[in-house]
Amino acid sequence: MERAIRKVAVIGAGSMGSGIAAQFANGGVPVLLLDVAGPEDDRAAPARAGVERQLKAQGFMDPSAAELVSVGSIEDDLAAVADADWIVEAVVEDLAVKRRLFARLDALRKPGRWCPPTPPPSPLAQLTEGASEAFRSDFVITHFFNPPRHMRLMELVAGPGTAPEAAALVRDAAETVLGKTVVDCRDTPAFIANRLGCHWMSVAAIEALRHGLTVEQADAVAGAPFGVPRTGIFGLLDLVGIDLVPLVWGSLLGALPAGDAHHRHDLTAEPLIRRLIAEGRIGRKAKGGFYRLAPGSKEREALNLSTGEYRPQVDAGAKPRSRGVDPAGGCGRTLRLGGFVQQPRLHRRRGGGDRRRRGGHRHRHAARLWLGRGAVRAGRPGGLRRHRRPAGGGGARGAAASRRRRR
Ligand SMILES: NC(=O)c1ccc[n+]([C@@H]2O[C@H](COP(=O)([O-])OP(=O)(O)OC[C@H]3O[C@@H](n4cnc5c(N)ncnc54)[C@H](O)[C@@H]3O)[C@@H](O)[C@H]2O)c1
Repeated sequence: MERAIRKVAVIGAGSMGSGIAAQFANGGVPVLLLDVAGPEDDRAAPARAGVERQLKAQGFMDPSAAELVSVGSIEDDLAAVADADWIVEAVVEDLAVKRRLFARLDALRKPGRWCPPTPPPSPLAQLTEGASEAFRSDFVITHFFNPPRHMRLMELVAGPGTAPEAAALVRDAAETVLGKTVVDCRDTPAFIANRLGCHWMSVAAIEALRHGLTVEQADAVAGAPFGVPRTGIFGLLDLVGIDLVPLVWGSLLGALPAGDAHHRHDLTAEPLIRRLIAEGRIGRKAKGGFYRLAPGSKEREALNLSTGEYRPQVDAGAKPRSRGVDPAGGCGRTLRLGGFVQQPRLHRRRGGGDRRRRGGHRHRHAARLWLGRGAVRAGRPGGLRRHRRPAGGGGARGAAASRRRRR
């Protein structure tokens, strides 16, 4: 069968664009990667820096895949998108910049091809406002996650004007070339994953600040034990880019009704977040955010959340303390967190028994293993206290069954 995607153009060589370019190269597809122009003597330098970043971060499965990525600048080389079968836009989260770029791409792209971008909460209707009918028919939002090589999910949003075959081609290529699991989403603010993800990241970070936890303690809990990325919450903010907080979280909050629970945890208003952005300490892409390597050495440092200064990173040691249960979800387990003990609580249901026995317990259990109120108990020994569930079910029915057995 003829391959539908033989060449891809990715515009924007930041964290996402360079990662998406690397993942196409991993799938054996030649990629043109463009970014803003560098200095006169090396106009492609910003795009090349993206490739180098992916080589360092192992975004390429094999370094030789980087040879499939050619680099250039938007100013000089945009016309080369004309023979691309898929144009991915991944420039800065700024609606005006994106719209201007789309107008230029519409004049250059191959007719009858599609041009999907990767923005989070800029709904498709806003992005395509004023665009030509032909452009809207080929336009699909493809929302990748960071890092694109490892994150399996890709959200796909087709608009009312999108041609079904454009969406089908993109879905097929995302699954077969990029190895993604594609989920169709409606054109709502932040779609599905970020609508949930931005909220829990805000709650976890702000509650950690309110409870005076260290970044290591917070990340030891709101990481693998929670069934979410093992970076933990502050590590994830570093990975995503703290500069995206006002852009992504801000535009999501702006789109949500005043009564939405997310407004109670407004990450964009946190003075520490504002300070980090103002000082350019925006995460991994800037050599430091909540974590960093000490300048000139390989020593890892973490941010003191009270002072905003760095200190040597300490091991919060979220290791199973009893019964050797796996860190992703065993019950009856306590976690040592730098000097105090975190004890998971089971969510008990009326009628006896716990959700663990009913299957699918991990996420519900993890959701109770929370940073704050009630969950953190200093020095409580041992595993989890649990009432035995009466055979035959709980409550009145269970008691009746027990009486029958005793007779
Ligand atoms: N970081 C994430 O986790 C993530 C996840 C999904 C989607 N996104 C979205 O992907 C897009 C890119 O995000 P990112 O994290 O890669 O950001 P980034 O800051 O790492 O990269 C943005 C790139 O845009 C370029 N740029 C800046 N101004 C420009 C202009 N005027 N014209 C053209 N290019 C310009 C920059 O040089 C930079 O390389 C954004 O829309 C973002 O919301 C990000």
